[in-house]
Amino acid sequence: PTNVGILAMDIYFPPTCVTQEALEGHDGVSKGKYTIGLGQDCMAFCSEVEDVISMSLTVVASLLEKFNVDPKQIGRLEVGSETVIDKSKSIKTFLMQVFEASGNTDIEGVDSTNACYGGTAALFNCVNWVESCSWDGRYGLVVCTDSAVYAEGPARPTGGAAAIAILVGPDAPIVLESKLRGSHMAHAYDFYKPNLASEYPVVDGKLSQTCYLMALDSCYQIFCKKFEKLEGRPFSISDSDYFVFHSPYNKLVQKSFGRLYFNDFMRNPSFVDEAARESLAPYASLSSDESYQSRDLEKANQQAARHVYNAKVQPSTLIPKQVGNMYTASLYAAFASLLHNKNTSLVGNRVVMFSYGSGLTATMFSFHLQEGQHPFNLSNIVTVMNVSDKLKQRLEIPPEKFVETLKIMEQRYGGKDFVTSKDCSYLPPGTFYLTNVDSMYRRHYAKK
Ligand code: ACO
Repeated sequence: PTNVGILAMDIYFPPTCVTQEALEGHDGVSKGKYTIGLGQDCMAFCSEVEDVISMSLTVVASLLEKFNVDPKQIGRLEVGSETVIDKSKSIKTFLMQVFEASGNTDIEGVDSTNACYGGTAALFNCVNWVESCSWDGRYGLVVCTDSAVYAEGPARPTGGAAAIAILVGPDAPIVLESKLRGSHMAHAYDFYKPNLASEYPVVDGKLSQTCYLMALDSCYQIFCKKFEKLEGRPFSISDSDYFVFHSPYNKLVQKSFGRLYFNDFMRNPSFVDEAARESLAPYASLSSDESYQSRDLEKANQQAARHVYNAKVQPSTLIPKQVGNMYTASLYAAFASLLHNKNTSLVGNRVVMFSYGSGLTATMFSFHLQEGQHPFNLSNIVTVMNVSDKLKQRLEIPPEKFVETLKIMEQRYGGKDFVTSKDCSYLPPGTFYLTNVDSMYRRHYAKK
């Protein structure tokens, strides 16, 4: 098989959301801290009737239906998630409910977990399977599903929730450039979930930013080396039309692209424009440790890269700014935003992707985009995802109600013997929702 990659995509995020501006007021922080400081507009969250299983059921059923894919045609199903509902039973097995009805139980794959990286691991597994000798001609299906919630405090506004389904196969409109890949993996305690009695992570916010930027540098350097070996000339930012980042909050994406720009400047000053050469020159002698600590450098990078950021990064920031950190789904929601904003103008373009999962695992890789063939083409993917309407049809919840919902979820976490609210009027038709958890901890879902 050739041109293996993404054939189709769909995204689901809960309609329930809280605006960052309202949250600033509620939390009593200075005005602009979440909207400008973090760069976020709005945050989606699961109400008590939704969770990572219901969201993934919703998005998988929707993708199969809208792209007219027979459930029997799926031969591998891989889930990326870091939201633990069960330590043994994978989310993938819950999704088998969608396939059992058609008689298809011959589906390989389970869940991949490492913070926000699981979706990328799942994608690589599916692509590798299609490219391998055990491929049986059917499609791979990747699901990224997470609900990001934090304890009260500065990390809480960086939550979010979503599920994404990605159909993988040959002759795709979005081709993975398998030879171009740089990874950086190491041991770090930046963000982790050691307390199995709580859904909330333990997070060292500042360290997690530094780990992210160090991993970005390392991946970029390896990516550049591989490109040079393959193409016989150095890579620079000008060799890719777009850059898409894992997006915990938009400010970090701005800093990250600034950092890539600084990398290019340090690799060869002629890669950046003259004004940038001048403004970045004072930082050229910093050690790499110093360079992560320097706030002046961070600001100078963002400033110098601003015009390129607006062209090559900004179009991918829509959903992450509106929905928040979706953990494993975050990078792919950013990519979905790019598709939504640029549609068929992406034909012939290269898109560089940066995936980061705390702990830590990171990979930079790239896509080459082609027209594709109906139903698996760029414009149909954009139509099916219908991002504008999904964003428009959301329900703004006051912060008090959001906090109350999180309290209910804290009490229910790991619990049994409860029935959820009967009111699902705000869920769009076709949405799966949790009805009850019985005395054996078995979870039951229904479709609206
Ligand atoms: N107006 C404008 N900007 C403001 C205002 C204001 N009123 N108040 C603060 N700011 C700015 C700050 O200057 C800072 O900007 P800078 O980074 O450009 O200097 C920014 O807002 C953040 O404020 P801080 O005080 O530095 O940080 P805070 O204590 O709010 O914590 C953090 C932010 C660390 C991101 C926290 O939300 C967190 O821990 N989040 C979870 C961890 C995370 O997402 N890490 C990313 C990688 S790991 C992952 O994906 C989970």
